[in-house]
Amino acid sequence: MRKVSFALAGAVLVATLAAGPVLADGHLEKAVEARNAQMSLYAWNLGMLGGMAKGAVEYDADKAKAAASNLAALTALSQQGMWPEGSDNFALEGKTRALPEIWTTYPAVSEKGKDLETAAARLAEVAGNGLDALKGGIGDVGKACGACHKQFRAPK
Ligand code: HEC
Repeated sequence: MRKVSFALAGAVLVATLAAGPVLADGHLEKAVEARNAQMSLYAWNLGMLGGMAKGAVEYDADKAKAAASNLAALTALSQQGMWPEGSDNFALEGKTRALPEIWTTYPAVSEKGKDLETAAARLAEVAGNGLDALKGGIGDVGKACGACHKQFRAPK
């Protein structure tokens, strides 16, 4: 009798360990955190540029160039692994705003990512060349953010 229950306890332990990497380590949630951290850095840098473009903050060529270069570099980073299947707002209800369409229409989402990368690279080239140049380049970046959010991000 003692022997049987010991064996059972062992079997339960093995099953728990085997399920661990999938169920217990929160890797889906970590991926959501990582991609939202990257998005926050997009927003930080774009916010700085938007403030200058709107006249809320005085235009400064060096700061504009730095923020636009940051944004271009950030949009060029690989997001490999940050969008694992099963990390949509249906599977992870309340923890993410990523719509399942990201996966069902793939690779449409990465084309939107490419549009942003292109617009951000162009903005980085001109942002230090005066306020008008900044204003000329920032619109396409904002549109690229918005286009992807509209299609692939759930409203709050
Ligand atoms: C290729 C698609 C795509 C592009 C391009 C994109 N986003 Fe996002 N963004 C998303 C998705 C999807 C989410 C929701 C992610 C989640 O909740 O898991 C998101 C979330 C965010 C968030 C919320 C972060 C948080 O902490 O909750 C901010 C802020 C944001 N994006 C800003 C931006 C800005 C600024 C740009 C442009 C410079 C941009 N995004 C471009 C798809 C995109």
